[in-house]
Amino acid sequence: MPLRSAAWLSGDDLPGFLHRASLRATGLSPAALNGRPVVGIANSWSELVHCNLHLRGLADAVRRGVLQAGGLPVEFPTISLGENLMKPTAMMYRNLMAMDVEESIRAYPLDAVVLLGGCDKTVPAQLMGAASANVPAIMVTGGPAVPAVFRGRRLGVGTDLWRYADQLRRGEMSRSEFADLEQASMPGAGHCTEMGTASTMATVTEALGMSLANAAAVPAGDARRYAAAEAAGARAVALATSGPRPVQVLTRPAFLNAATVLAAIGGSTNAIVHLLALARRVGAALTLDDFDAVAARTPLLVNVRPSGEHLFEDFYHAGGVPALLHELKPLLDTTALTVSGRSLGNQVVGPVNDRTVIASLDDPFGPPGALAVVRGNLAPRGAVIKTSAASPHLMRHRGPAVVFDSITDLADRIDSPDLAVTADSVLVLRNVGPVGGPGMPEWGQLPIPTKLLRAGITDMVRISDARMSGTAYGTTVLHVAPEAAVGGPLAAVRDGDMIELDLPARSLRLDLPEPEIDRRLQHNPPPPRPYRRGWGHLYTEHVLQADDGCDFDFLTRTVDGTDETDLP
Ligand code: FES
Ligand code: MG
Repeated sequence: MPLRSAAWLSGDDLPGFLHRASLRATGLSPAALNGRPVVGIANSWSELVHCNLHLRGLADAVRRGVLQAGGLPVEFPTISLGENLMKPTAMMYRNLMAMDVEESIRAYPLDAVVLLGGCDKTVPAQLMGAASANVPAIMVTGGPAVPAVFRGRRLGVGTDLWRYADQLRRGEMSRSEFADLEQASMPGAGHCTEMGTASTMATVTEALGMSLANAAAVPAGDARRYAAAEAAGARAVALATSGPRPVQVLTRPAFLNAATVLAAIGGSTNAIVHLLALARRVGAALTLDDFDAVAARTPLLVNVRPSGEHLFEDFYHAGGVPALLHELKPLLDTTALTVSGRSLGNQVVGPVNDRTVIASLDDPFGPPGALAVVRGNLAPRGAVIKTSAASPHLMRHRGPAVVFDSITDLADRIDSPDLAVTADSVLVLRNVGPVGGPGMPEWGQLPIPTKLLRAGITDMVRISDARMSGTAYGTTVLHVAPEAAVGGPLAAVRDGDMIELDLPARSLRLDLPEPEIDRRLQHNPPPPRPYRRGWGHLYTEHVLQADDGCDFDFLTRTVDGTDETDLP
């Protein structure tokens, strides 16, 4: 295909002069510019995002690859999203980053782009932006950080932190030990070390065909990650002239492959939201029910925390995504096209190196159904539960609701000795969805009340319109849609109402007559939206519900084949 950059750079006129001179201001000779494919390197490096701290070095490796293949590398920054530091939640800015990436690609003379991200939201944001720009793109993720070691055990950053935090609340760990943990917990650059959202998104991106083979799981500091980045840079030069473009890769079969891998790794529930959003960017049919159906036939094959024992780097050493694809082959559409220009089938590599980390379909680590979607009068448009990280004895449960109206209400009362709660109670947190949060924060793993923790209770049924960290665990029903803040039925629940979760029946019900639910909703209009200007206003006015991926209503359109990126 003709080079898109030619529209900027080839003209024998004043604009052509200005465009060429502007690029040459970096010191390029005419030969360096002369008709070469321009490969953008969209870098989400930031000192505010420790997970992405090493992406400058990775960009240098990408640059090397672009030069080797005869292209012109041009690195540019985008907003970056740090999971731990951003308030109220990095998710509130995923669409902002997606717009930044999309419009940067669209506005500049780029023939292909290499996306550099790592921390949870940076990867889906870049994929969404690149998909909408539909300029050939390839994803390079940052890889998992060196694991922290505490008391002789390698830590999963979040998964283990949640456990130690519970130990602290139970009085089994001292304040000074907890301070030692803080010092140890994040030893350097790279994303979370277990199968949290970052590892999940990296894995799923490879399964989607948007990164090169065996790129997802290489540790952040491993030389092979830099070699993989170099290969991606070289590949991007070929992509610039012969594609495929993102819409050719991001098809329904690719999304079903990604959903299969997501189930097999016991991956983060956040990936469901991101994949739904990405599919809506390219007009690929994908629904919440697809995730349930795919998970129902896909057993748990990967033994990585929080669904298992090991860390993401162990998954790499066991063979990584290519070895997992090898095991999953009967469940995949291996004809799906990838950015390599070949089918996913070419990225299947067996055998598995370590059966304690990657299992076979015949002898899996867990049954099918690591993720499930429940519906009912409490979640008419669905809710998600990560069964692989939940307690089997709570899969069928009926109990009285204990309702919290906000995160501050929860913080104020959850540990009160007067809270009327038992192990059978169902904890409900509402007004924490896409609009209510806003940004659907990761508050869905409601803490177990301390008095129950001390009594040895480690899990309860918890329901919310929030998300939860991919590193978290527990019997938590998440992403309830529609959310309370837009008038969803969660808003009708009162303390003591009986709630029934029946996972085998995929049902979540509030035991009240429908007219009573309607009456309560009518008398409880949603709270006013907190923002009257700025990003928060734009966000809460336009964000879609979780079952549609929390994208903006004005960004989810079908790509119909015309190429808007080449508008004058
Ligand atoms: Fe960035 Fe976990 S905090 S990947
Ligand atoms: Mg996370």
